[in-house]
Amino acid sequence: MLDLLLRDARLPDGDGVLDVAIRDGRIVDMRPGIVAEAAEVLDAGGHLICPPFVDPHFHMDATLSLGQPRMNVSGTLLEGIALWGELKPLLTPEAVMERALRYCDLAVSQGLLAIRSHVDVCDDSLTAVEALLEVRKRVAPYIDLQLVAFPQDGLFRDPTAHANLIRALDMGVDVVGGIPHFERTMADGARSVTALCELAAARGLRVDLHCDESDDPQSRHVETLAYETTRLGLGGRVVASHVTAMHSYDNYYASKLIPLIAESGMHVVPNPLINITLQGRSDTYPRRRGLTRVVELRGAGVNVAFGQDCCMDPWYPLGSADMLEVAHMGVHAVPMTSREAMAWTFDSVTLGGAAAMGLADPTIRVGGPATMVLLQARDKIEAVRMKPTRLAVIKNGAIIARTPPKIASLSLPGRPDTLDPASYAPGVHMT
Ligand code: FE2
Repeated sequence: MLDLLLRDARLPDGDGVLDVAIRDGRIVDMRPGIVAEAAEVLDAGGHLICPPFVDPHFHMDATLSLGQPRMNVSGTLLEGIALWGELKPLLTPEAVMERALRYCDLAVSQGLLAIRSHVDVCDDSLTAVEALLEVRKRVAPYIDLQLVAFPQDGLFRDPTAHANLIRALDMGVDVVGGIPHFERTMADGARSVTALCELAAARGLRVDLHCDESDDPQSRHVETLAYETTRLGLGGRVVASHVTAMHSYDNYYASKLIPLIAESGMHVVPNPLINITLQGRSDTYPRRRGLTRVVELRGAGVNVAFGQDCCMDPWYPLGSADMLEVAHMGVHAVPMTSREAMAWTFDSVTLGGAAAMGLADPTIRVGGPATMVLLQARDKIEAVRMKPTRLAVIKNGAIIARTPPKIASLSLPGRPDTLDPASYAPGVHMT
């Protein structure tokens, strides 16, 4: 007896449709035409199932705080940081938890079941740390929430950041964070990278630094991060987030740097929604896009995973916990419009994010966890194009969210009565 049987589902990299049999939270069989008793049968209708979406870069302590205590008037990164500094003393654990849990509800509805969130430790009360540790515990049955101890105001620039970062790790925060480009000098920035990597190596932890989130072509801390990752044998356990300055490096330097990043085994996490919005703000015209060199990093074999970064907070007034919106912006902002590259952006917000976070392989396979999302789309590119309805979100064999399909009713002379927007262009559908 099965717990759940999915009929006629399509895999991200498969041909045709098949059934998926689920028992005790695992996938026990996958092939067309399974005949078995099941407690529940879900007709996938030829739609796509995929591993859950993953956001490897987010700020859950700030999310859904838009307008508190005021709006970001200039729209810049630096005013966002200043505004967050105004909000921090006003935070209460209850308010942080309430916003974070509301965001997690939204995430589940979007099939987003793994999130790495930075949490600001430049607050001697560690209010947000305490609140998000509690949130991590509460959402553990359905969201893999990793927390990064993030010294927003600079590990050395803020007088108590270093001590607070250690306190946060002692309280159970998972990952060592940093922001080298925000230290007082380039030398302090490099010193912070070394100190943070040594701390992580000594404690057996992962590293995730906001690294060179700037338009400054001289901001080159990712070079130090690659060096320390190699020196300390941290390959695979380090993420360089943003790395927007790489957009402005001269090509010769980039051509030397990118192989060093690949050699170190670090992951790179650009955040297209935020990078395209915040970078280049001080340019006149032409205005730089400020997204890191995704094509070249991929070409060198680096795991590049797109993150969301912000949702309705001091830095970004939009956002919807939809990682396909992030992939969609990645396609445009890089830009990358080959069929292969567009399909890759889908993998970036599922498999790529899981690898960056160090999660187990989430590929849908016999023997694997029955955790997946059923989308109102038929292939990866259609999913990126349409950002379709998440018809069902399944965690360890249990359906934890459902949304009705989006079908328009038409009243047009001589035309069909209904329209499924996802299947509107069947001629270019790839199976
Ligand atoms: Fe960030």
